[in-house]
Amino acid sequence: MGRGSGFGKTILFGEHFVVHGVPGIASAVDSAADAHVKKAAKGINVTDERTGAKGYAEKKKLQQLESIERMLTAMNMDPQKTSMDIWLGGNLPGFSGLGASAASSVAIARAIAEEYELVLSDEQINDIAYEAEKAYAGNPSGIDNTAATFGGLIWFKKNLNKGSNEIEQLSIREPVEIVIGNTGIVANTKAMVAGVAQRKEQNPEEYAAIFRYAEELANKGRKALDEFDLKQVGNLMNESHQLLQQIEVSCNELDYLVELARKQGAFGAKMTGGGGGGCMLALTPGKDLQEKVALAIENEGFEVLRTKIGVRKV
Ligand code: PMV
Repeated sequence: MGRGSGFGKTILFGEHFVVHGVPGIASAVDSAADAHVKKAAKGINVTDERTGAKGYAEKKKLQQLESIERMLTAMNMDPQKTSMDIWLGGNLPGFSGLGASAASSVAIARAIAEEYELVLSDEQINDIAYEAEKAYAGNPSGIDNTAATFGGLIWFKKNLNKGSNEIEQLSIREPVEIVIGNTGIVANTKAMVAGVAQRKEQNPEEYAAIFRYAEELANKGRKALDEFDLKQVGNLMNESHQLLQQIEVSCNELDYLVELARKQGAFGAKMTGGGGGGCMLALTPGKDLQEKVALAIENEGFEVLRTKIGVRKV
């Protein structure tokens, strides 16, 4: 049997904007998806035992199968002639917006490689997972699979001209507590990404200004993280949420949880990932603040993940 893991991620700055070449910053969280793969007699059979939003596995089933087929093709294996049992688990909940799809793709690619004795570098695993992500995101930037493969804190800029993307590991003095709050709404990243592209085309001037500001926020965010100025990181996250509202990818539930986290003392809060549901992220340095914000969200009936940014190993 082959085994593999992929990190969950949260985007601190730049979701959606990264698809269009604006830099973004993502961080692995200290939770991962795990996969086991075993050659089988017939078909590709997936047993998904990941915890999290009810219905996530069902709603994503078709996209998941397409992603596995894409992955096999990228690994020079024929999806029609390959039979395997795939088990998915791990401590990364299947919340939308946590990069669960990319984490599972990386985990599955690594487990397939082990089961079929393929020697693949992390760069190759990342490329394979990128192909798989197309099934979930349509036109993905690549930030999710990059964070899922390499872990850590990542500066990412998509090369829109087919060349390689700019990927840099950023360092942070120490991991910082965060709270991820789940709206419970399983969002369709592909539709959200397509919606932004459409509105951008319809409102070129307005969107150009918003996109310029998003780039400025990513640059300022990088500096603040480097200086470990967490108050400033939080303020910039708040600003980033505002931009995401402007491009219409937030929703009432996300805005509500973001406000709630800020009222409880979070240094900053924003939606994270594709939006339209899915998750929000609150920067809550220290166990006490993390617990306070997490409990407030739980008391409103939402699921949370207490985790950290800036971790390198699960
Ligand atoms: O919702 P998630 O975790 O799949 O994150 C998607 C991030 C986007 O920027 C919206 C899309 C992308 O490919 O970068």
